[in-house]
Amino acid sequence: MANEIKATNITWHDHAVTLDEREARNGHKSAVLWFTGLSASGKSTIAQNVQSELFDRGCQAFVLDGDNIRHGLNKDLGFSPEDREENIRRIGEVAKLFADAGMIAMTAFISPYRADRDKARAIAGDRFIEVYVKADVAVCEDRDPKGLYKKARAGAIPEFTGISAPYEEPLNAELVVDTGVESLEECTARVLNCLVERGILRAD
Ligand code: ADX
Repeated sequence: MANEIKATNITWHDHAVTLDEREARNGHKSAVLWFTGLSASGKSTIAQNVQSELFDRGCQAFVLDGDNIRHGLNKDLGFSPEDREENIRRIGEVAKLFADAGMIAMTAFISPYRADRDKARAIAGDRFIEVYVKADVAVCEDRDPKGLYKKARAGAIPEFTGISAPYEEPLNAELVVDTGVESLEECTARVLNCLVERGILRAD
C-alpha cells in the first residue's frame, strides 16, 4: 500500500526548534511506547493509566488509541491484513511525529503482525519501546468488555483477532506485562520503571 512517495517536487524542511531543545524544556526524553496485544488484553487501560501518571509528573504524553483513531484518521480502514498494515503504518508515522514534538507517544493498537510492528520500530528508531500486553485469548474472552468475542464466536465479526485472524506474539519486546497475573498498578509501575531504565524519565 501507500509506501512509495507519489508526490514530486517536495523538499524536506528542518525544524527551527530542535528535539534537544524540546526535551530540555520538557525535562524528559521523547519516546514511542508501542503497546501491542489482543483486544481486551488491557493495552488502552494501561496506556491511559501511564498517561495519567506522566501527566501528574508534568510530562508531555499522549495516547493514540486504535478504537479512537479508527473513528477519524483511519476511518477508511477495516480489518483485512492490508488495512491493518496501513493502520499501523500511519500510526507509526503519527507516533514518530509526536515523538519529534518531544512527547512520550503511546499507541494502543492490536498491531497483530510482527512485520508491521517492526516497520513502526524502524520509523521511530531507537526511541521505540515495544510493550507486549500479554493475556491469553481465554482471559480476554472472559473479560469481553465490548461483547466482541461473543459476536466473533457466533460468526458475526469476520477476521477477529485471536478467533479467526492471527496475532503474532512479539519475540523481542522491550517489556512484557501479563495482565492475567499482574494488576493494573503493577503493570503501570513496570512501564514507568522501563522509561526510567531507558533514560526517558528521570528517577523521582
Ligand atoms: S489492528 O489490528 O489494526 O491493530 P486496532 O487496534 O486498530 O486493530 O483496532 C482494534 C479494535 O477494533 C478492537 O479493540 C475492537 O474493539 C475493534 N474490532 C472490530 N473488529 C475487529 C476485528 N475483526 N479484529 C480485531 N478487533 C476488531
